[in-house]
Amino acid sequence: MTSRLRRLRVSATLRDMLAEVRLSRQDLVAPIFVRPGEGSNEIPTMPGQFQHSHDSAMDTLRHWSDSGIPAVLLFGIPPRKDPTGSMAWDESAPVQRLVRAIKRELPSLCVITDVCLCEYTDHGHCGVLETSADGKTSVDNDATVELLAKTAVSHARAGADIVAPSAMMDNQVSAIRRALDEAGHTDTAILSYAVKFASSLYGPFRQVAENAPAHGDRRTYQMDYRSPRQAILESSADAAQGADMLMVKPAGTCLDVIAEIRRRFDLPLAAYHVSGEYAAIKFAAMAGAIDEKAAVCEITTAIKRAGADIVITYYAQSLASWL
Ligand code: PBG
Ligand code: ZN
Repeated sequence: MTSRLRRLRVSATLRDMLAEVRLSRQDLVAPIFVRPGEGSNEIPTMPGQFQHSHDSAMDTLRHWSDSGIPAVLLFGIPPRKDPTGSMAWDESAPVQRLVRAIKRELPSLCVITDVCLCEYTDHGHCGVLETSADGKTSVDNDATVELLAKTAVSHARAGADIVAPSAMMDNQVSAIRRALDEAGHTDTAILSYAVKFASSLYGPFRQVAENAPAHGDRRTYQMDYRSPRQAILESSADAAQGADMLMVKPAGTCLDVIAEIRRRFDLPLAAYHVSGEYAAIKFAAMAGAIDEKAAVCEITTAIKRAGADIVITYYAQSLASWL
């Protein structure tokens, strides 16, 4: 008997029926950036993505919610920055204000807030700095963790459903869980950026969030992409500290890691298709090199196929209209 595997692909109906992986709108999380002031401005390195004012963000979120996007991930650009990033936990800052407005007007939209200090510190690092006796500057892990916990509580108080710590500080999840519980926010979940690699693909994000480090880089706290076993150690640590969901980031360059974390952990798993991955497709499509819709569907489905339950992507709005 001759093997004829092509029989399974003869028609679109059959191919659709037999599709083993389906990406759906329910799997999508759309990132959004909110800043002070009026109007909105498009990000040159991410065509189609914007820094929004409060009102512009609300208009966009109404539209996304109507198109069936279940969740958003909020990033804030504060009116001013300082060494400790104190606007991160300020009740009147753009993120806290936007969370309150969403919960008032679009209560069923799931609000996830990024918890980090890099958009809020004047030096652009994800935590506060300490200088050792020999004059070397580094991020002070334990001091930072306390500030991240304060920030998470202020997001929860504003009404965030899920807080997502992305600073890659050790023990940040347990500190945040403890602070949330003490403040009575026992139902606020933690989506941990457990596996976050230092990556060139965050380039465009740093223009949007205005958080490029003024000196040095993030390689003393974000993971080295040559060391995937540390992804298991990071995930185990965060699961033990009470993370409700795990995340791998970036997504497309880490399909092996996504598959491995899926196999080893039963917590829901998110993958972040990051700014550089968005820009790479967008500019290639603008140059006529690839078909944008086909490329986005292929890559985001591959992320799901690797084992992600949830895909965080700047293409969420486009996907919601294509799926
Ligand atoms: C900040 C943060 C970054 C991203 C999400 N949260 C940037 C960084 O670590 O430099 C990257 C997202 C993207 O590139 O889309 N901690
Ligand atoms: Zn950060």
